[in-house]
Amino acid sequence: MRVLNPLRVQMHLDGGSATLYYDRKKLAPTDVVLPRIAQSINMYGLAVVNQFALGGVPLVNHAQAIAQSRSKMRSLQLLSAHGIDIPATVMARDAAHLKEMVGLVGGVPVLVKLLQGQENHGVMVCESLQSLEAALEAVLGLGHNLVMQEYVKSTSQDVRVLVVGGKAVAAVRRRPRPGRLAHTLIKGARLEAMELSPGQRATAEKATRLVGLEVAAVDLLDIQGQLKVFEVNSSPALPEMEAVTGMDLATPIIIRAEELVAGAEPVSMPDLLPPRGIPAPGLPSSPAPRRKKSSRTPTSGAGGA
Ligand SMILES: Nc1ncnc2c1ncn2[C@@H]1O[C@H](COP(=O)(O)OP(=O)(O)OP(=O)(O)O)[C@@H](O)[C@H]1O
Ligand SMILES: [Mg+2]
Repeated sequence: MRVLNPLRVQMHLDGGSATLYYDRKKLAPTDVVLPRIAQSINMYGLAVVNQFALGGVPLVNHAQAIAQSRSKMRSLQLLSAHGIDIPATVMARDAAHLKEMVGLVGGVPVLVKLLQGQENHGVMVCESLQSLEAALEAVLGLGHNLVMQEYVKSTSQDVRVLVVGGKAVAAVRRRPRPGRLAHTLIKGARLEAMELSPGQRATAEKATRLVGLEVAAVDLLDIQGQLKVFEVNSSPALPEMEAVTGMDLATPIIIRAEELVAGAEPVSMPDLLPPRGIPAPGLPSSPAPRRKKSSRTPTSGAGGA
């Protein structure tokens, strides 16, 4: 196993082959890649992941799947189009339009989220139309795209499910620290191990397939059994989950990587919209080509979310 910093990888295309270098030395043949691309180097990192794909190297998360998991609107479009419930969400470019559309997401309080989440940026809860206006102007003024979302009240449970190779392998409940609002969860949430209900399990597994990921942490709100998925993370942080569940979560990922090297069918992505008149599929189609086993070594990048 070798950990590569994606920024030290160089790529060469010549119309025929796709070559990779590390610090200008040609990379040794690679069996499988586990991408862990930090959000801050998303574009470059995904180009590196794609270059491995061009060489036929199996990936434990394809670049396209990572990219769509990182766009809040794209991933919610995919989930919503295929029958997964999500918090009501609107997207618009203009603050005036967004203010007019607040009723579509249940009125204030609402959440304002950056379209392309930044590490540890979290979200903004806007309790009044005035605070919404100020938040929208600030975020849009910085040139960011955003989505405005229904604020699901704190009586719901915030559940994170780790899904590997299509199967939920661990789950934690996230609780805000006393006296804190839900939007500060990431900055001090308490995690607890939990047993998944069959519905939570099925929803998390389906959401992961829809986004096309081999490894994902699916974040969902459980409102007395009504499940709303709000994010599918492609580079989940594992140590915190391992600490509270007492499970070794790297092993299932390594086993999945080995299965892919051995020619297992990778998770593949469905079209954005189900064909007209045909019920939304639970399972995606169009499998990617299989690869034969070789003696090459696995490679992993850096980063986490
Ligand atoms: N619709 C919602 N209603 C209520 N709380 C929500 C909703 N969506 C998200 N949250 C809370 O806000 C937190 C952050 O939301 P989300 O993960 O979508 O944003 P993010 O940009 O990825 O931020 P972070 O880096 O904090 O995860 C979640 O962990 C959850 O507790
Ligand atoms: Mg998040």
